[in-house]
Amino acid sequence: MTTDPISGLLGSRILPVLTVPSEATAAPLADALMRGGAQAAEVTFRTPSAERVLKAMTAHGGLAVGAGTVLTPEQAERAVAAGARFVVSPGFDAEVVARCRELGVPVVPGIATAGELMCAVRARLDTVKLFPAEPLGGTSMLQALAAPFPRMRFVPTGGIGPAHLPAYLAHPAVLAVGGSWMATAGHLERGEYEEIRRLTADAVDRGRT
Ligand code: 3PG
Repeated sequence: MTTDPISGLLGSRILPVLTVPSEATAAPLADALMRGGAQAAEVTFRTPSAERVLKAMTAHGGLAVGAGTVLTPEQAERAVAAGARFVVSPGFDAEVVARCRELGVPVVPGIATAGELMCAVRARLDTVKLFPAEPLGGTSMLQALAAPFPRMRFVPTGGIGPAHLPAYLAHPAVLAVGGSWMATAGHLERGEYEEIRRLTADAVDRGRT
């Protein structure tokens, strides 16, 4: 196994997943997440402004900002050039993993099956994203998939909200839980930064207990 520094970046055990339409919101969003106790956040490559948002949030300081929805090695390069401290993919792609290794950035690929977990083991990864966690079957799917892979750690993401959070966090194989519920498109559109702080603080508190 390689030593994976991702665990250091996900110390608060909560990973807000952000789809941010404009870099104008980067600074107040980063502030709200940090005031809520988040140590890291994932900016998805789903908007034309993703790289600019990543750069702006990184420049703001204080938060380990990674790139999400990274689908190709080229996107991984662009993410790292924009300052990404880690890379997250929705699925397992060996070329994305290899490029991230070359770039020296931790990568957390998505997995949904035991076969994909075996690919992750072969790639010497010790942390994967279980995606989409809730539609796959939630914590019972996590329990079943984690059993044959006792050294693998999981970042369940997809369909998770405050109600599901405690059960995921209680699972010993869970490094952190990801999700967009703390900072949704609606929150950002309406400028609800206090609500983002509150939802983040609530999630981070659950991660401490
Ligand atoms: C992701 O890219 O990780 C997911 O879109 C986040 O899932 P959620 O929006 O259901 O939390």
